[in-house]
Amino acid sequence: MTDITSQTQAALAAIATATSLEALEAQRLDALGKKGWVSLALKTLGGMSPEERAVAAPAIQTARAEIAAALDARKAALETAELEARLARETLDLTLPAHAAPKGSVHPVSQVMDELAEIFADLGFAVATGPEIEDDWHNFTALNMDETHPARAMHDTFYFPDKTAEGREVLLRTHTSPVQIRAMQEHGAPLRIIAPGRVYRSDSDATHTPMFHQIEGLVIDKDIHLGHLKWTLETFLKAFFEREDIVLRLRPSYFPFTEPSVEIDVGYAMEGGRRIVGGSGDEPGHAWMEVLGSGMVNRRVIAAAGLDPDEWQGFAFGTGVDRLAQLKYGMNDLRAFFDGDPRWLAHYGFSPFDQPTLSAGVGART
Ligand code: DAH
Repeated sequence: MTDITSQTQAALAAIATATSLEALEAQRLDALGKKGWVSLALKTLGGMSPEERAVAAPAIQTARAEIAAALDARKAALETAELEARLARETLDLTLPAHAAPKGSVHPVSQVMDELAEIFADLGFAVATGPEIEDDWHNFTALNMDETHPARAMHDTFYFPDKTAEGREVLLRTHTSPVQIRAMQEHGAPLRIIAPGRVYRSDSDATHTPMFHQIEGLVIDKDIHLGHLKWTLETFLKAFFEREDIVLRLRPSYFPFTEPSVEIDVGYAMEGGRRIVGGSGDEPGHAWMEVLGSGMVNRRVIAAAGLDPDEWQGFAFGTGVDRLAQLKYGMNDLRAFFDGDPRWLAHYGFSPFDQPTLSAGVGART
């Protein structure tokens, strides 16, 4: 008994005067470690008579609790002292000139988003954003896809277990189109926006990743027609690919949120194993490739967003930013975009000092 009391006193004294975390750890092992004296004392309890145990057990438990508390307190004190010493020791002089070459690079997706913003800003489009965690009304219903619409099932949606206060399903947006609704609700008409951002679908292989990037475009005004759509997309694609010989093919298609709907193809040729955009897809050695979905905004979408479809019309378009980056800069595996491998970024990344401007040519020099 006295043995335990005196051993405890000695341990507490040693702990209180320990000057390093290592010394403290040695004290912990000595008392509470597997072979420490407290642990060994606890093991003797099994061989005692019930009367002996009734006295010894609480004494050992008390010793263990006191020592553990002392260890914690001393550890906290030592760590605070260590942090303060480090803060006093380490200084960072922000006025020193940077002499190392910059190591970071701009990810191709960010680069292409900057290029798109630059091109569309020149055409009078503002950049709009919306939440990545959406509700099914904005993502589907307002875009003319009610609960029973088959296109909903095609979107491989990630749903959350909760619902919004209004009882709407909560999901990760499957496309940037809900930003159309939010922008019309927030700003009314007339409107000219692009909405670049992340979208999510439960799909993964060499050409699909569960998260990818889209850009949406929306123009709402009076007397807008398909000619405006074609001119805008042609101007955009010429600026983006930095070639005048871009040829568009408009193909009738179907999207619930546009009527009529058109898919936009561009002509391309294979060169050195890469698709090089340019020329008509009907020329020898050329083919067509789909690059954008688009159409005149469906009246029901305009009405859902609170505008009068008899007064306002418009066109919309959407496409994958990752795909545009792959096409322009020749990267074949989409998954590498999201691996975060610094070697890939060093190879395909762009200089942070190379800002896309229309006057200097919007593409990055490589
Ligand atoms: N939201 C469509 C998708 O994810 C893309 C799209 C097609 C957007 C046509 C549009 C459009 O704005 O008019 O597949």
